Amino acid sequence: MRVYMDHGATTAVDPEVKKEMMKFFSDEFGNASQMYEYGRNAAMAVQEARERVTKLIGAEQEREIIFNSGGTEADNLALKGIMLAKKNKKKHMITSVIEHPAILRTAEYLETQGIKVTYLPVDNFGLISLEDLKKEISSETALVSVMHANNEIGTIEPVKEIGEIAHDAGALFHTDAVQTVGKIPVDVKKLNIDLLSMSSHKLYGPKGVGALYKKQGLRLDPILHGGGHEKGYRSGTENVSGIVGLGKAAEIAQKVLLKEMEKLTKMRDRIIDNFLKLDDTILNGHRTKRLPHNANLSFKFVEGEALILRLDAKGIYGSTGSACSTKKLEASHVLLAIGLRHEVAHGSLRLTLGRWNTDKEVDYVIKEVPQVIKELREMSAFRKETEEYVMSLKDEHDDDHCET
Ligand SMILES: Cc1ncc(COP(=O)(O)O)c(C=O)c1O
Repeated sequence: MRVYMDHGATTAVDPEVKKEMMKFFSDEFGNASQMYEYGRNAAMAVQEARERVTKLIGAEQEREIIFNSGGTEADNLALKGIMLAKKNKKKHMITSVIEHPAILRTAEYLETQGIKVTYLPVDNFGLISLEDLKKEISSETALVSVMHANNEIGTIEPVKEIGEIAHDAGALFHTDAVQTVGKIPVDVKKLNIDLLSMSSHKLYGPKGVGALYKKQGLRLDPILHGGGHEKGYRSGTENVSGIVGLGKAAEIAQKVLLKEMEKLTKMRDRIIDNFLKLDDTILNGHRTKRLPHNANLSFKFVEGEALILRLDAKGIYGSTGSACSTKKLEASHVLLAIGLRHEVAHGSLRLTLGRWNTDKEVDYVIKEVPQVIKELREMSAFRKETEEYVMSLKDEHDDDHCET
């Protein structure tokens, strides 16, 4: 059996998406900027995709969507485009410590350019405090950027309230919604969002394409200069097939979203409830304010990479930490930020469910994972040496992490 449960890292392209994209490789291959028929057909397809994305996120106008190469570029454009804009006089921005590296590394770069950045801490569930935000924000703050939901632990941040606080202080609100668009309802107007990053490969579209939503009337400086595509905000010949794929993925997501959420929530809870029956196991993230498809748990006395390899051998594909950081030995910055010790953070497993996972697959996972955990713990020399130490951690985390 092969069970892919790493949909937070990437998703397979939906067959309907693939079908719609195919035409734009060799048949309708035109450059969308050209006036003749091939070009017009490509431009029409891009426009249709723009309409579909606009609808999915509740934007007002199609021109609020800037197509680009994905979440990383959208985050870069939002942060640099606002903070380094010639006309921007406010040199302070606020973000959180659990953002994706696409935000954190960009914020660090901005610091080298004279921008003051405040990194909000999070509580044991991964939630930022609105009170902290109110304390830190001032008339000098140009931008608040807090992710809609965290990619590792699935915690959903109170973005509507964050947007409200930002606006009251005269700041703009950007959210990295790479993990939420197509997974839970996202409405930029209702959620007070001025700028939003999204990525096609997280919602059953192709890799290497995404978009930044930019509220109408809001000005930002481009980071790529060239032929002036995407109304000057993102130069470069349009990735027509990719954009068509993102558009189709958005259309499908809008149709199936609520049903899919219901199905995945049930599967997720079955996994979480079963894993929490194991000793020395912690749920990472919030029990209810979490993505419907995300189960992230830490198993004490277990080494995450060994767990992933053992599960791989059984045909179960999940991750430990985020995909971007699995090659490093450091513990995940997100798990450390929610208060886990290094040892415990290293024993984490993230399973992220998706469109084609079945109850049978969940049964298989519920049966196999505890067995692997048991074997690894039996082998663990680390366990005996650290038993006493970890018992003290247990006391610390008992209150906060739904531990059993
Ligand atoms: C929250 C978040 N932001 C940004 C990104 C980067 O998106 P992309 O892979 O499209 O560059 C990811 C991808 O893992 C993500 O999870």
